Amino acid sequence: MDANVNAGVCAAFAERWETHSVTETEAVGAEIAASLHGGQVVALFGGMGVGKTAFVRGLAKGLNLDAEVSSPTFALVHDYGGNPPLVHFDMYRISGWDDLDTTGFFDYLDAGAILAVEWSENIENALPPDALRLRISAPDPNIRIIERF
Ligand SMILES: Nc1ncnc2c1ncn2[C@@H]1O[C@H](COP(=O)(O)OP(=O)(O)OP(=O)(O)O)[C@@H](O)[C@H]1O
Ligand SMILES: [Mg+2]
Repeated sequence: MDANVNAGVCAAFAERWETHSVTETEAVGAEIAASLHGGQVVALFGGMGVGKTAFVRGLAKGLNLDAEVSSPTFALVHDYGGNPPLVHFDMYRISGWDDLDTTGFFDYLDAGAILAVEWSENIENALPPDALRLRISAPDPNIRIIERF
């Protein structure tokens, strides 16, 4: 039997990418989108302006969603629809379980949405064990490293 069959999302794509433009970062998101399933959390780590939203824009494209993707800075959550729906969170100002609960995070998770989470640092304890954890870093103004960890 193929050893990768049961590895699910783990074996479906690379572990590390280097991108040289927003478009390339979006393309990585689009590539990963094909491997996602409902109830999955894509946990994005990495500081201000590192490219988390660009990556989520790519996820939406990869899921064939015609959505205007932007950081949910004030709304905290954007639901882009789809089947399963892609739901985008900004946890920058979230601290504690009550706070997190008010975003609808657990309800969307229970409902089987795909959850893309910016600032996952702030909700790390609430991430499901099978969350896809990706760290984005910017070693240069136009270069981004996206790594699974
Ligand atoms: N290789 C690259 N990939 C992605 N973005 C890049 C890249 N090179 C430069 N950039 C720039 O980095 C910025 C990324 O912005 P984006 O909103 O996606 O970041 P973010 O991590 O969501 O920020 P925030 O924490 O404020 O929500 C954009 O201004 C984009 O032009
Ligand atoms: Mg953002």
